[in-house]
Amino acid sequence: MDQDIDRVLVHERRIRDRVAELGARISRDYEGKDVTVVALLKGGVVFLSDLIRSISVPMHLDFAWASSYGDGTTSSGNVALRVMPDTSLRGRHVLLVDDILDTGRTLARVSAELRDRFGAAEVKTCVLLDKAARREVDVRADYVGFEVENVFVVGYGLDFADRYRNLPYIGVLKPHLYAN
Ligand code: IMP
Ligand code: MG
Repeated sequence: MDQDIDRVLVHERRIRDRVAELGARISRDYEGKDVTVVALLKGGVVFLSDLIRSISVPMHLDFAWASSYGDGTTSSGNVALRVMPDTSLRGRHVLLVDDILDTGRTLARVSAELRDRFGAAEVKTCVLLDKAARREVDVRADYVGFEVENVFVVGYGLDFADRYRNLPYIGVLKPHLYAN
C-alpha cells in the first residue's frame, strides 16, 4: 500500500494531536447538551472512532450513508441516502461527522435531511479535512481538522475504489493509479 503513495500529507502523529484538540473543543461546546454524533459511512468511521474517545460529555451514536462517489475521484453530483439513522433524532443536538468536505453536496444534503425529515433541533458538522478549493455549494463545517490543497487523498478512512482506508496517515495517491 505505501508504495502507491506519492507523499504523506498529514502524518499519524499530527492527526492524533489534532483529533484530540477537536474532541476537547466539542466537549466544551456540548457541555450539558446531550449530543447525538451521526457518522457518515464509510469514510468517516476511522476519524469517528478516534474522535469520540476524545469527547468527554455523554453522547449517543448513530450512522448514515450517503454516497455520491463511484469508483472515480470526482463526485457524480447526485447524493443518495442509502442508510438512515436508526434512532430518533427529534429535537436533538446532532453532530454530523465525515472524513472530508469537498464539493459540499454530501454535508449539505444530509444536514438538511437530518433537520427536515428526522427533526433534529440543530445539526453541526465536523470534518477531518476541508478541501475549500472544490466547494460547489455554500456549506461550512463547524469543526475542521485540516485544510488541504486540491489533491486526491487517501488513508485514515478515505478511499480510492474502496481501498487504502486502513492507512494510518493521509497521503496523496500516485496519479498514474487513477489516471485512466
Ligand atoms: P462532497 O459531497 O463532494 O463534499 O464529497 C464528500 C465525499 O466525497 C466524502 O465523504 C468522501 O467520501 C469523498 N471524497 C472527496 N474528496 C475525496 C478525496 O480526496 N479522497 C477520497 N474521498 C474523497
Ligand atoms: Mg467516500
